Amino acid sequence: MDKCSRCKTEEKPLFRLENPNVLVCSQCFMNYYEKKVKNTVLKYGMLNGVRKLALAVSGGKDSMALARVFLEVFPSIKFTIIHLNLGIPNYSDECQEIVEKFCKENSIELLLYDLKKNNGYSIYDFRDIKYRERVCGVCGTVKRYLMNKIAYENGFDTMATGHNLDDIVEILFNLYINGSVEELVRIKPVSSSTHSKIARKIKPLIEMTDKEDLYYAISRNLNYVSSECPLVKGSRMINRKKLIIKIEEEIPNFKYLLLKTHIKRFLPLLEEYVSPPILRECEDCGMPSVNTICSFCKLSSKILKLVGK
Ligand code: AMP
Ligand code: FES
Ligand code: ZN
Repeated sequence: MDKCSRCKTEEKPLFRLENPNVLVCSQCFMNYYEKKVKNTVLKYGMLNGVRKLALAVSGGKDSMALARVFLEVFPSIKFTIIHLNLGIPNYSDECQEIVEKFCKENSIELLLYDLKKNNGYSIYDFRDIKYRERVCGVCGTVKRYLMNKIAYENGFDTMATGHNLDDIVEILFNLYINGSVEELVRIKPVSSSTHSKIARKIKPLIEMTDKEDLYYAISRNLNYVSSECPLVKGSRMINRKKLIIKIEEEIPNFKYLLLKTHIKRFLPLLEEYVSPPILRECEDCGMPSVNTICSFCKLSSKILKLVGK
């Protein structure tokens, strides 16, 4: 049987680290993962000055890994988990159950928000509509808005999400191709609050890959929703991720290099030259918005007309 290159334990399966390229046992993998996340959090000062912390947890492998690694690495830091039930059949209820069970087992406060019950529509209602954006884009707008609103209404000053290196590189890739400088300037490990109703956002897993989150979830025996969201199939996002995997095969460490170049080289310049949008308060809901009516309220009124409410 193969041996762990670190502690020499014989174990199956062994996990492959990317840098250095060696095989390790589950215990050594957990140590590696937890140390790397801790270093990322400290390096970017993610927890500096935090009074009340919330973690946005979907039930997927990344945000479940995030919650677990926080319990291990920062045992004295209290946090609340926010979960949104998006009303997607054969998917959302399973996500909610997983998150509820995890919170119960670990005595973590849970804030549950049910989109259908509170707003009268679900993300599933967007599935057939020929929409300007694809359903994932709509879903992203709804999630960002609601997570921020829940954080604001409950006095959380910082919200952590489970975005990992693969997610961020996929976003950067698209934004650089399209030259979307106003959006690029917002892609960073820590986004400070730009309005009294906007919580500070942190991404503790920004340097961890999809695979590392998966291995951590497996090593820690975490329950996570293993099926993909049924609405996401064949989306551009998934295809781009596949393309990035191919690039990484040709240019080793491509993902990390792109992230590092973005943060170190481009962000300081972008921050100097791109002015932040002027925010006012949405006339419908009072939350910060660039336009008179925010994109969430526009979406909500359109979909409510279509679902006949
Ligand atoms: P996604 O937009 O699906 O790539 O998710 C990015 C991050 O947003 C996740 O890692 C979570 O931190 C958070 N998130 C996504 N969906 C939910 C949800 N339904 N409830 C709470 N947080 C979520
Ligand atoms: Fe958002 Fe599937 S979870 S489209
Ligand atoms: Zn609004």
